Amino acid sequence: MPELQRLRRDHAAALLAFERENRAYFAQTISDRGDDYFTDFDTRHSELLAEQDAGLHHFHLIVDADGQVLGRVNLVDVADGTAELGYRIAERAARQGLATSAVRRVCLLAATEYGLTALRAETTLDNAGSRAVLARTGFVPTGGEITLGRRPGLAYVRDLSDVREAAAQETAAP
Ligand SMILES: CC(C)(COP(=O)(O)OP(=O)(O)OC[C@H]1O[C@@H](n2cnc3c(N)ncnc32)[C@H](O)[C@@H]1OP(=O)(O)O)[C@@H](O)C(=O)NCCC(=O)NCCS
Repeated sequence: MPELQRLRRDHAAALLAFERENRAYFAQTISDRGDDYFTDFDTRHSELLAEQDAGLHHFHLIVDADGQVLGRVNLVDVADGTAELGYRIAERAARQGLATSAVRRVCLLAATEYGLTALRAETTLDNAGSRAVLARTGFVPTGGEITLGRRPGLAYVRDLSDVREAAAQETAAP
């Protein structure tokens, strides 16, 4: 059963392997990270962990029983009780419900452990998978159009009050 883990220093090798193996696949739907991301990976990994420690972001990996990374779900730019959601799932693990279940879990973490009140997300109109995941996890379009890498897109928001209330009721239940 894949597990959601908060990003750690020792995830570096498995995360780099995941990004390398899926680079061409991801580039079909979202912007490529560029060569520098791969050559400077270790430095960047350390910098992002420092920013996570400072409370600026919450990074998560979906890890299988062998320690291989199947996906990632990130909350970046934490400020004023909100953060921006981003996610990507390995090609070999696609359409197994991983993104949906991991985003739900991260919404719960956001509303409880991270103390956030809302999340933002963006995707392109032509990204049917991402739009389906956002709709299934309670994100609603804010209205208005945006552009992502020259493609038309939608901005979304997810009010977390229902998640926080449900978690509180569960804790209070006998
Ligand atoms: C979009 C993405 C995260 C979906 O991940 P996933 O784990 O396959 O999603 P789920 O299995 O939870 O799928 C939920 C639903 O999305 C829809 N869906 C998923 N991938 C799809 C695709 N390629 N085309 C059309 N619909 C798709 C389906 O309705 C699916 O449910 P079903 O197949 O059980 O009916 C994944 O394809 C991905 O990482 N893509 C590349 C990176 C990316 O686009 N990230 C999002 C940036 S905004």
